Amino acid sequence: MSKTTIQAVVFDAYGTLFDMYSIGALAERLYPGQGAALSVLWRDKQIEYTRLISLSDPSPQGSRHYQSFWDITRLSLRYALARLGLVHTHANEEALMAQYAELTAFPENLGVLQALRERGMATAILSNGSPEMLASAVHSAGMGECLDAVLSVDSVRQFKTTPTSYQIVTDHFGLAPAEVLFVSSNAWDVMGATWFGFTTLWVNRQGLPPEAIGPAPHHTGRDLTAVLQVLG
Ligand code: LAC
Repeated sequence: MSKTTIQAVVFDAYGTLFDMYSIGALAERLYPGQGAALSVLWRDKQIEYTRLISLSDPSPQGSRHYQSFWDITRLSLRYALARLGLVHTHANEEALMAQYAELTAFPENLGVLQALRERGMATAILSNGSPEMLASAVHSAGMGECLDAVLSVDSVRQFKTTPTSYQIVTDHFGLAPAEVLFVSSNAWDVMGATWFGFTTLWVNRQGLPPEAIGPAPHHTGRDLTAVLQVLG
């Protein structure tokens, strides 16, 4: 794949563009000694529910079991608290949920998005996030000016990694999958995107080992500046 064929760069949201550190930090303040365990279990359960819903009814018209990512996020938080034997209070739940709407960008991100703007590259987010929570996070992170589109799987009522969800991007831009550079910090998302046919970049911020199954991403980097290296 020649790098000159890339026509659009599309980003995952949570953990890729938006730094979720503040969620873990707040979890630790509210539940001292349990913040890391709570954040990990919450995130794992959140993603598990998205897969359960999409797998149980993958019809192109949308899953009958679909619930918005905002609701799934709230319900998976309740599960994680119960699983860890932590006290659930309305105030704590609201505080943790509110963090999703107030995330900051990783430090290098705005510069990378601006550089893509300057070279005339089309840019977008494709996220499981519901439109409202994405709009809020984009605003909070100061990215509104740098993105051509904020695409949510809500429009197809299925979550990543279904082909229908990734197809939102190719339909939106009228591009072939390989003409899109799909960028995610989530290895599972990158694998789904690679299977779909996107050109992929895994931003391995945490220095994790590669997934044991599936195709390797086309490119790997440690932060978002790797996008500019891939494009050359
Ligand atoms: C997203 C999550 C999965 O933004 O990171 O889609």
